[in-house]
Amino acid sequence: MTPVRVLSVASEIYPIIKTGGLADVAGALPIALAADDVEVRTLVPGYPDVMEALSGAGAIFEWPLFFGGASRLVQGSCGELKLFVLDAPHLFARPGNPYLSPEGVDWPDNGLRFAGLARMADNIGLGAVTSFLPDIVHAHDWQAALAPAYLHYSGRPRPGTVITVHNLAFQGRFPRSMLEAIGLPPDSLAVQGVEYYGDIGYLKAGLQFADRVTTVSPTYAREIQSDEGGMGLGGLLRTRSGDISGILNGIDTSVWNPATDPQIASRYDAGGLDRRAANKAALQQRFGLEPRADAFLLGVISRLSWQKGLDLLLEAFPALLGEDIQLAVLGSGDADLQERYRGAAQAHAGKVGAVIGYDEALAHLIQAGSDGLVVPSRFEPCGLTQLCALRYGAVPIVSRVGGLEDTVADADGAGGVATGFKFAPVTTDRLAGAVLRAHAAFADKPAWRTIQRNGMSTDVSWRNRASRYADLYREIVKTRAAPPSADTG
Ligand code: ADP
Ligand code: GLC
Repeated sequence: MTPVRVLSVASEIYPIIKTGGLADVAGALPIALAADDVEVRTLVPGYPDVMEALSGAGAIFEWPLFFGGASRLVQGSCGELKLFVLDAPHLFARPGNPYLSPEGVDWPDNGLRFAGLARMADNIGLGAVTSFLPDIVHAHDWQAALAPAYLHYSGRPRPGTVITVHNLAFQGRFPRSMLEAIGLPPDSLAVQGVEYYGDIGYLKAGLQFADRVTTVSPTYAREIQSDEGGMGLGGLLRTRSGDISGILNGIDTSVWNPATDPQIASRYDAGGLDRRAANKAALQQRFGLEPRADAFLLGVISRLSWQKGLDLLLEAFPALLGEDIQLAVLGSGDADLQERYRGAAQAHAGKVGAVIGYDEALAHLIQAGSDGLVVPSRFEPCGLTQLCALRYGAVPIVSRVGGLEDTVADADGAGGVATGFKFAPVTTDRLAGAVLRAHAAFADKPAWRTIQRNGMSTDVSWRNRASRYADLYREIVKTRAAPPSADTG
């Protein structure tokens, strides 16, 4: 295999800074790719958490003025991750959520902040770091999406480019008046350029200029090419149909391993599922639920947003209250949903419990202790919690959208390989129906154990999935090297 060098560009990275699955992917994929002879360095913003986590850090170069302030490019590592950090205090020295002010609103200069990140990727792509000249620049989501556009407009020999869409709902749209400040040429403000409904579209620009577009499941790759799923970008995505691939996410199976997990009450494997009982008891206690071993305990670990459909679960619950069903919800996000879940926990104490917040350790306990994990998303590019659930023997109950459709096999119609329960369309009634179907199956212990074990033996690791990225990178390198179609602009 020819070695490939990749500059990955991401606005969050596990285990340093995370608001969702993007961080998990940005943190795990580079490590998995090493087995495919792909050397990855990741460019991330120099948030305080990143500056603190960096070891062996050294400045590569400094600019007195980069995007409005003094900045440095620093390299270092965090565990196995090799990082380039854009240390630009005027843009990134802000603690907490990477995108939101303490008042919970987008930082007003997000357009400038993430253009700066992409611009630095462009610099590295064009050879600014002589010891690391990438073959590929791989941008994740809108925050990195200007990188392929900058590289295109540089007019210089450039590396290949990939953009991965983790979530089309977040598009990075900023006023056209910013064009000069972010250093794009006037003629880029065109339909074939970075213009998007009269503004500048960062994700649009990435989708326009990257050599290849990937998203995180085959079904989502199809959904985003429709008018509804395309969220304003469906038309553009259809023109790029031949360049789009859906590659499923994996999870880090060393972090998510019930046999070794230090964050759960009782460790177990597929051969010792009885040992899950201690986790269930711990979970019931933590959420103030009745300590009943035979109740059907459902878990949720999620951002609380419209995407995730958790308002439907609230609406479905009254119909389920007569059954022996309990619910443990860990989540944060929309103030309204947070309030409603708090309210449900008060109104149905002992049956419904809610922890509002972000708690990594508790997420592990929910996976280890709940019988079913509910993911009723309206759309879901891939979804990671159902993958963790499969590995932990918490049976996923999911809507038939995006990566949920691709990673869970329904008990009806899956023959011997059922791993969960799916429903469509995404409505309160259908969700309640799927929960009741799962509850009925739960009553048949041997059959339930089979579903759990099927899930636990499903490959949810990055191994084969990372290889698909490696193949894609090599294909791009080969195509770009092959005359006469070599495109160096
Ligand atoms: P998304 O990226 O859309 O939020 P994913 O399912 O891809 O959805 O990834 C969510 C990740 O964040 C998972 O690793 C999940 O365990 C974690 N997570 C989400 N909410 C919480 C929370 N409140 N506490 C702890 N972990 C959470
Ligand atoms: C996004 C999506 C989620 C996906 C994650 C990682 O946040 O909402 O479905 O799993 O990115 O790709």
